[in-house]
Amino acid sequence: MPGLTKENHNHNLALAGLVHDLSNVFETLSEASELVLEDPRLKPVAEAIQRSVESGRRILGCYAGMSHSGVDLDVVVDRAATFLSDFLHHLPGVDVEVVRRIPAGLRLSGASNDWERVFMNLFLNAAQAMRERGGGVVEVTARAEGAAAEISIQDNGPGIPDEILGRIFAPRFSTRSDQTGLGLHIVHSIVEENDGAVRAKNRTDGSGAVFLLTAPLIGADSAANF
Ligand SMILES: Nc1ncnc2c1ncn2[C@@H]1O[C@H](COP(=O)(O)OP(=O)(O)OP(=O)(O)O)[C@@H](O)[C@H]1O
Ligand SMILES: [Mg+2]
Repeated sequence: MPGLTKENHNHNLALAGLVHDLSNVFETLSEASELVLEDPRLKPVAEAIQRSVESGRRILGCYAGMSHSGVDLDVVVDRAATFLSDFLHHLPGVDVEVVRRIPAGLRLSGASNDWERVFMNLFLNAAQAMRERGGGVVEVTARAEGAAAEISIQDNGPGIPDEILGRIFAPRFSTRSDQTGLGLHIVHSIVEENDGAVRAKNRTDGSGAVFLLTAPLIGADSAANF
């Protein structure tokens, strides 16, 4: 094993074993959801299980070393929005609409699972911020600006107090006692890993937070402008 320490080798083997075993778990869950689907009353539950299984398989795919030829922005945002709606299903009284204005053809480099996590974390934060108001609207807009995508995610919650704006991307920073404070740190790390940037501000047209992301586009020439 040139270039590989014994520790590395053991680690890779353990990871391969984990990927293998979890694939079997997903297979079992997938088969179980097929059975649940036979009862029409349980269709939404079965579909939610299947989406979670797909999401888990995509996560596993990253660790199994699958290659990635880029990610369609509109697709990952749709998946994150579906995740949010499945999540909110269990939180009665919180009604969040995710409005998307994303032209087709915007492709980002990186893994779809990573980009899904970016939007999932931002959507969850927005939903949590708007929770006391019973929900609200998250607006996602994107456009091609030269070779980069410019993406804005804004909500109509209370916004982010000025005194914490400079700290929210730090690991373990949270204003919620029951949270880990890792969400935005993960967002920041993934965006930077993909040569992008993210910053936060508050809306000027009312209350609410705005997250602005830029990330390089793949095949920027063919990307649609709007
Ligand atoms: N959309 C938002 N509106 C208002 N405040 C926000 C918003 N998003 C993030 N924040 C603030 O930034 C803090 C850090 O967010 P982050 O996602 O990193 O952690 P968290 O949501 O508290 O915990 P975790 O994401 O680990 O569950 C939040 O605790 C909150 O105070
Ligand atoms: Mg969070």
